[in-house]
Amino acid sequence: MKSILTLMAAVLLLLPSLASAEGAALVDPVKSWDNHWNMFLTIVTTLWAFVTALVIYMSLKYRRKKGQGDGAYIHGNILLEVIWTAVPLIIIIFLGVQSWNVYRQQITVPKDAYEVNVEGFMWGWNVTYPEGLKTINEIRVPVGRPVKVNLTSKDVLHAFYIPAFRIQEEAIPGRTTNIWFNPVQKGEYTAYCTEFCGSGHSLMLAKVIVMEKTDFETWQGKQKEGMVLSPLDKGKKLIADLGCLGCHNITGEKTAAPTFKGISGRETILADGRTVKADDSYMANHIKDPKSTTVKGYSQSMPPYNLSDEEINAVTTYLKTL
Ligand code: CUA
Repeated sequence: MKSILTLMAAVLLLLPSLASAEGAALVDPVKSWDNHWNMFLTIVTTLWAFVTALVIYMSLKYRRKKGQGDGAYIHGNILLEVIWTAVPLIIIIFLGVQSWNVYRQQITVPKDAYEVNVEGFMWGWNVTYPEGLKTINEIRVPVGRPVKVNLTSKDVLHAFYIPAFRIQEEAIPGRTTNIWFNPVQKGEYTAYCTEFCGSGHSLMLAKVIVMEKTDFETWQGKQKEGMVLSPLDKGKKLIADLGCLGCHNITGEKTAAPTFKGISGRETILADGRTVKADDSYMANHIKDPKSTTVKGYSQSMPPYNLSDEEINAVTTYLKTL
């Protein structure tokens, strides 16, 4: 038994290095994951169907009939035993080798990859680009070039998941992990947090926008100008980027959260009965710690946003114009 295990381990370790030596060209990881999944599914389903069919057939054919005594006592059959040990062994070694190949592909980042740093926080994603640009909950990358994501977390455990690219990795405070994907097609994809990280977990989404190279460069140029945006424009952009308008609105309608229209200086009745004036410090406080000032008639579902003083100033400057 021990020698069989040793042999199995040796084959497992040796085969992939032979197999991947010629297949060094970049394969789309999405395709290899899908092929891998389909292969597993096919083999496992075939085995299941074979065994089930055999069980049904045998139990019908060899069931005990009326008037029959005990069956013959059969001690063993070396040939059969060798076959039913060897066949599963070969299948398992084959699957192991295939899995190792896919795994190796996933952990080997292509050399020319575009690198972005992604930091999870409660509840969103900060993205920093090599050129020094920053976005929140939005990852923009050029099409056709592998992307390496350096992942970390600001506070608690999060997990970064883009189903369209078949990648998932832990975001751990104080540690950097990485993962890569190959965006072969332009379009918008969604990145999710897949580790329960508090009440805002389900809001923790980011858009992955795969752009034509020239469009990407134009966007970068515009963003660089945006770094010198006026507080008003910056505030407007933050409100849009952070997804505030998912619950609040600027039109005065009654939706899930109080409207932004006329918010600045508004007399506001809180759930605890206090009446306060929505001035700058109230708004700043509410952004950082929404629970402390829940507005009467609304349920408290807003996550706290950890913005800098400058960002909060930009947001309140914009809100005052509504
Ligand atoms: Cu972050 Cu769940």
